[in-house]
Amino acid sequence: MKASLLYFLALPAFAIADTLKQRQSDWTVGQTVQTDSGPVSGHAALNASQVSEYLGIPFAVPPVGDLRFAAPQKYSGNSTVNGTSFGFSCPAATIASGVSTANLASANITASGLIVLEALAQFGDKFSEDCLTLNVWTKPQTGDARKAVLLWIYGGGFTTGNSDNPAYNGQFIADQEDVIVVSINYRLNIFGFPGSPNATNNLGLLDQRLATEWVRNNIAKFGGDPTRITLFGQSAGGASVDYYSYAWTSDPIVAGFIPESGTALGLGQRTPEQSAASWYTVSAKLGCGGASSGGATVLSCMRTKNYTSILQALPSGGITGGTGFGPTIDNVVVFSDYLNRSAAGNFIKRPMLVGNADNEAGLFRAVAAIQGNSSKFSDAYWDSFNLLDFVCPAAARANISVANGVPTWRYRWFGEFPNTIITTVPDSGAWHASELPVLFNYSPPSDLGIPVSTLEEIAIGNYFRGAWATFAKDPANGLRTYGAGNGTGWPTYVPGGNTLVRLAYQNLTGPNLAPSQMYDSTCNAMFVVPPSTLVNGSTNATATRTAPAATVTKSEGGRENIGLGLLVLFGVFTIAL
Ligand SMILES: *[C@@H]1O[C@H](CO)[C@@H](O)[C@H](O)[C@H]1NC(C)=O
Ligand SMILES: *[C@@H]1O[C@H](CO)[C@@H](O)[C@H](O)[C@H]1NC(C)=O
Ligand SMILES: *[C@@H]1O[C@H](CO)[C@@H](O)[C@H](O)[C@H]1NC(C)=O
Ligand SMILES: *[C@@H]1O[C@H](CO)[C@@H](O)[C@H](O)[C@H]1NC(C)=O
Ligand SMILES: *[C@@H]1O[C@H](CO)[C@@H](O)[C@H](O)[C@H]1NC(C)=O
Ligand SMILES: *[C@@H]1O[C@H](CO)[C@@H](O)[C@H](O)[C@H]1NC(C)=O
Ligand SMILES: *[C@@H]1O[C@H](CO)[C@@H](O)[C@H](O)[C@H]1NC(C)=O
Ligand SMILES: *[C@@H]1O[C@H](CO)[C@@H](O)[C@H](O)[C@H]1NC(C)=O
Ligand SMILES: *[C@@H]1O[C@H](CO)[C@@H](O)[C@H](O)[C@H]1NC(C)=O
Ligand SMILES: *[C@@H]1O[C@H](CO)[C@@H](O)[C@H](O)[C@H]1NC(C)=O
Ligand SMILES: *[C@@H]1O[C@H](CO)[C@@H](O)[C@H](O)[C@H]1NC(C)=O
Ligand SMILES: *[C@@H]1O[C@H](CO)[C@@H](O)[C@H](O)[C@H]1NC(C)=O
Repeated sequence: MKASLLYFLALPAFAIADTLKQRQSDWTVGQTVQTDSGPVSGHAALNASQVSEYLGIPFAVPPVGDLRFAAPQKYSGNSTVNGTSFGFSCPAATIASGVSTANLASANITASGLIVLEALAQFGDKFSEDCLTLNVWTKPQTGDARKAVLLWIYGGGFTTGNSDNPAYNGQFIADQEDVIVVSINYRLNIFGFPGSPNATNNLGLLDQRLATEWVRNNIAKFGGDPTRITLFGQSAGGASVDYYSYAWTSDPIVAGFIPESGTALGLGQRTPEQSAASWYTVSAKLGCGGASSGGATVLSCMRTKNYTSILQALPSGGITGGTGFGPTIDNVVVFSDYLNRSAAGNFIKRPMLVGNADNEAGLFRAVAAIQGNSSKFSDAYWDSFNLLDFVCPAAARANISVANGVPTWRYRWFGEFPNTIITTVPDSGAWHASELPVLFNYSPPSDLGIPVSTLEEIAIGNYFRGAWATFAKDPANGLRTYGAGNGTGWPTYVPGGNTLVRLAYQNLTGPNLAPSQMYDSTCNAMFVVPPSTLVNGSTNATATRTAPAATVTKSEGGRENIGLGLLVLFGVFTIAL
C-alpha cells in the first residue's frame, strides 16, 4: 500500500494521464462508483450496452417531515445505492378524471399524440416526496478521459414533470456523443414553491442548484469534467436554466446554458404577496388556518398533512394560470428586475444557445381541442401566443447575451415527422417539446401503429445531438466549426444578421441560416442591442414571413396576464409549459 502511494505521489503529470487511460480501459459497464451519496452500482443501459446507467441517486436529504417546505439539504451516505431504477417522481398536480370521448374524437389526435400527452400527464408514475434523485449515463471506457456533461432539467410549468420520462433518457446521447448526461428531479408546485411568508421559497430552483453542486463534486468519478457542465432544459426547464444564469453569479459552476422554449423573461414571476395568497388558500382549505392564523402555526400544520391531501386541496387552476405556485420573487434566486440586471451585465456571462420551436402552440391547441375549446381561439390568438410566450423572450434573451459580449447562438426548431405529429387537423407542426424525442432519440412504440422514425428524422437527430454535445464540449467555440462535415460552422447570433439557425428546416441537416426578423420582427423590443455591438452584423431585409402584432408588452415583476396561461387543465391530462 505504502509503496504504491509513494509511487503515485512521484508520478509526473504525463503518467497521471496514463493512469486515467488505464482507469478507462479498466472500466466495467455499471461498475460501482464511490460518491458523496455512497457507493452507487449501475448497469448497462437497456438500448446502449456500453453505456453505464446509474439511476435514482439521492443528492438531498429526503424533503419530508420538517424538511417539507424547507431548503434542500446536502445528502451524504455510506450505504450502497442500487442505481438500477429511477427514483420516485416528485408529487405533481396531475388530475385524473374523465375526458369527453366526443371531444377526444373531434380533436384529431394521433396515436403518438396520445402517447405524448400521457407521458406529460405522468401516467403510471410512482410518486413520493422522497424524490430528490438524479441519474447519470456515461461511457468512460472510450473517448475523452474527462468528458463534458449535459445536465437536463425537465419542464412542466413547475407543476408537473419528472426525469423518468422515456423521451428524456440520456443513454443515446451518452452513447453517441462522448459526453455524460445527467438528469435531475426537483420539487414542484406547492412543494417546490410553497409561498408561505415563513418558509424559504423557490425550493425547486434550490434543488436544481444542489443537484448541480453534486455533479460538480462527483462527476469526475464517472469520467466527467466538472469544469464543463452545461445546463439544458425545456419549457419550465429552460426557464430554470435561465433563472440559474441570473441567480448564481458568485459561484457559477456551470460552463454553458441551453434554455429551450423557456427563459426568465417569458412567463413572469409571482410576487411574494401572490404566492402567500395561494398558500393561505390551500392551508385554509386543509383546516390549517389562513393569513390571520399565525404563519408558523400554519406552516407546522401544513407539515402534518399527507401530500395527497395537499395536492387535492390545490385550486383546479382553470384556463389562465396553474394552481398559483411557481417561481416567486425573493431577490435571491428569482428577481424583480431581470431587464435591469441584464443591462448591468449582472448574470453569468457564459456561452448560451437559446431558441424555441416553430409552432409552440401545436401542443396547447391539442389540449384546447380535447377540452372542446378550440373554436374559442383564433389562429391569430395562437400566433400571438407563440410570439409573446416564446419567440420574443428568446429574442430578448439572445440580445442580452450578445450585448454583453457572451458567445451566443440562437436556433428555431422546425422538425415534424410521421411519428412526432400529434394532431392532423390542424397540423401540429413543430409543437412545444417536439424537439425532445428527436434530441434524446426516443421513438414511440411502433406496435401501436405509430410509424417508425424516418431516415430524415434519424439524420436530423444525429446532427442535433452532435450540436448540443459540441456546445457542451467547448461552449465558447465548438459550434463555430460545427456543421456535420459542411465545415461552415454555426455563426454566433447577431440581431439583424443572417444568423438564426433553423434546425430541421425543410428536413435539412446543417445550420440553414435565416435572418431572425423573419420570425420576430413584430416583437416589441424588450432588450435592444446597442449599435456598437452590431458592428460585425448586417441588416438583412429579406424577411419573407411576418407574424401578427404582439398585444402584450413585458413589464418587470409580477405575472403577466397572457390569456391561456401556464397551465391547461383538461379531464385526464394536465399539461403545463
Ligand atoms: C430498447 O430495448 C427494449 C428491450 O430490448 C426494446 O423493447 C425497445 O424497443 C428498445 N428501444 C429502442 C428505442 O431501441
Ligand atoms: C460515512 O463513513 C465515514 C467514515 O466511516 C463517517 O465519518 C461518516 O460519518 C459516515 N457518513 C454517514 C452519513 O454515515
Ligand atoms: C438492485 O435492484 C434490482 C432490481 O430490484 C435487483 O435485481 C438487483 O439485484 C439489485 N442490485 C443490488 C446490488 O442490490
Ligand atoms: C378535426 O378535423 C376535422 C376534419 O378535417 C375538422 O373539421 C375539425 O375542425 C378538426 N378539429 C379541430 C379541433 O380542429
Ligand atoms: C411569518 O411571516 C410574517 C410575514 O413576513 C411575519 O410578520 C411573521 O412574523 C412571521 N412569523 C414567524 C413566526 O416567523
Ligand atoms: C391522507 O390524509 C387523508 C386525510 O386525513 C386521509 O383520508 C388519506 O387516507 C391519507 N392518505 C394517505 C395516502 O395516507
Ligand atoms: C430599473 O432601472 C430603472 C432605471 O434605472 C429604474 O427606474 C427602475 O426602477 C428599475 N426597475 C427595477 C424593477 O429595479
Ligand atoms: C374550456 O372548456 C372547459 C370545459 O370543457 C371549461 O371549463 C373552460 O372554461 C373552457 N375554457 C375556456 C377558455 O373557454
Ligand atoms: C441575407 O439573406 C439572404 C437570403 O436569406 C442571403 O442569401 C444573404 O447571404 C444574406 N446576407 C447576409 C449579409 O447575411
Ligand atoms: C420531412 O420528412 C418527413 C419524413 O421524414 C416527411 O413526412 C415530411 O413531409 C418532410 N418535410 C418536409 C418539409 O419536406
Ligand atoms: C452548408 O452550409 C451552407 C451555407 O451555410 C448551407 O446553405 C447548406 O445548407 C449547408 N449544408 C449542409 C449539408 O449542412
Ligand atoms: C434585439 O435587438 C435588436 C437590435 O438592437 C432590436 O432591433 C430588437 O428589437 C431586439 N429584440 C428584442 C426582442 O428585444
